[in-house]
Amino acid sequence: MTDRYAVIGNPISHSQSPFIHQEFAQATGQDISYEKLFADIGKFNEVVREFAAAGGKGLNITLPFKGDAFRYAGELTERARAAEAVNTLAFRDGKVYGDNTDGVGLVRDIVENLDYPITGQRVLILGAGGAVRGVLEPILEQKPASLTIANRTVIKAEALAHHFARYGKVEAVGYDALEGRSFDIIINATSTSLNNEMPPLPHGVFTPRTLAYDMVYSAGLTPFLQRAQGENAGMLADGLGMLVEQAAESFSIWRGVQPDTRKVTNMLREVLA
Ligand code: ATR
Repeated sequence: MTDRYAVIGNPISHSQSPFIHQEFAQATGQDISYEKLFADIGKFNEVVREFAAAGGKGLNITLPFKGDAFRYAGELTERARAAEAVNTLAFRDGKVYGDNTDGVGLVRDIVENLDYPITGQRVLILGAGGAVRGVLEPILEQKPASLTIANRTVIKAEALAHHFARYGKVEAVGYDALEGRSFDIIINATSTSLNNEMPPLPHGVFTPRTLAYDMVYSAGLTPFLQRAQGENAGMLADGLGMLVEQAAESFSIWRGVQPDTRKVTNMLREVLA
């Protein structure tokens, strides 16, 4: 029998997840279906309960429900607990398992696909919203030389640094404090690229060996990546690889097989162009 999966969100029409998971299923010979599930705000639990009761085996969770999914799950992985957000639910033996694969997706994209080590590097993350919370624990697990969070509202960065202190040392600063400093990896996890804006980064933070990574993906360079290019950053990457890697990790949690990601990322890149 075909096992049923879905991605739940609001809005959900733009999601690439059905395409990605169907490609994974085909490549690995897994018999699954994967659909888009819309839920009204406040109706997350109801929609999920119905899906699981009808035999659904697993869900991916996207905005704005990752916190709801965290509270819905009965069993949580350490990284989901740290993130206080869940992007993957598995319904198995009457239990609801919650995980968060966003961070491992980002780490794998950087370390394996881009072949850029995080261990021993000076890492700067821009932003202090849910996107950052979701990835901090897996980044700290890589043991960077330092991890700095810069945010417009400094108190939010400080709260994150405090929350994640037990996983490693995290420094919280405002953008002004970056003046005169440089970093090996700079990850833009703010929502600025979605609005064609740019975080107020001082000049000089990029070096010719800096990896500039935007968690947002787009056909052309985002404003952050344009700026990084203008300042001769060594390497530029957007979040398409992370999207596919987080999906691959969810797929392997559900199906016990790790799909190859390269082909699917290339296909999506062509569709985007
Ligand atoms: P999410 O949880 O999806 O990350 P969010 O909580 O709204 O969304 O966070 C958006 C992030 O982008 C925040 O870190 C926000 O900074 P503030 O906390 O100071 O609001 C950041 N952001 C949005 N627009 C920005 C801008 N123009 N310049 C700098 N940072 C910006």
